[in-house]
Amino acid sequence: MALHTLRRITLGVPDVPAVSRFYTEFGLQPLGEGRFASVDGGEQLRLVQRPTRRLVEMVIGVDDQDDLYRAASRLTREGFGSRPDGTALTATEPVTGVQVRLEVAPPLAPEAGILPVLPNSPGNTVRSNARAEALARGGPVRPRKLGHVVLGSTDLATSMRFFEDGIGFKASDRIKDRGSFLRCSTDHHNLLVQNTPVTFVHHSSWQVEDVDEVGRGASSMLAGDPARHVWGLGRHHIGSNFFWYLRDPSGTFAEYYSDLDQILDEQLWKPEVFEGQLARYNWASPPPPSFLRPDDLAELMTGAHAPKA
Ligand SMILES: [Fe+2]
Repeated sequence: MALHTLRRITLGVPDVPAVSRFYTEFGLQPLGEGRFASVDGGEQLRLVQRPTRRLVEMVIGVDDQDDLYRAASRLTREGFGSRPDGTALTATEPVTGVQVRLEVAPPLAPEAGILPVLPNSPGNTVRSNARAEALARGGPVRPRKLGHVVLGSTDLATSMRFFEDGIGFKASDRIKDRGSFLRCSTDHHNLLVQNTPVTFVHHSSWQVEDVDEVGRGASSMLAGDPARHVWGLGRHHIGSNFFWYLRDPSGTFAEYYSDLDQILDEQLWKPEVFEGQLARYNWASPPPPSFLRPDDLAELMTGAHAPKA
């Protein structure tokens, strides 16, 4: 695949210091001036001041200069402009105003972390005379990398044409009449674009080692402020991942995830179309209304939100 990594996102937020405190507590390493690093991905989040919350930019790694030429050609063919910038190419998605920057860069090479330990199960005692390894874990949870971002678009067809036919994302699965899970790496999805009545950023998602780290991370965040809770623990059907969603001070959700599907051979992956519960989750408590329709959506719809500003 020519596109290989979701390298970084920039979130526009009204109160950078407040949101910075949230993502520091979330486990990202602050680098100063609203920039944050994950363990494997290096700098992967930038916060900039904007009147209302929005996704300003996403940066995607590609293999070489030829990939930039090919993307520029696809974007032109689809009627979108792009701007070459040395070893990068930038283009602006016209519905959401999100800038996409393709950069020639090496792929991530994560080092193995905590080794998954099979749990005891009926008839299969793999751990005896000892407590579970996860109980001995201490210290803050540290996200390994940025996984994906979810956008709402008022013109799904145009957004899809930009991201899929123009930039070069591949579709992994779809939600009937609602949106597409797109990848620019071996992750099942790095971007979900959904049909919504107003353009907005729904959440960013951060990989942790395993389901215990999902639980430990969320529990720690809720100990800091129970009002951060949005939805979790659960397991998605699309992508298979465990999830727990929290709300940052700007209203954008941040997800801890683990055990996401990996698509190494696209010939062996069959995209499907889902609807109903499986489009949202496999098991969990039902999502709260504020997950499907964030509390500030009405405010964003009344025009207080200017996504292209
Ligand atoms: Fe997610």
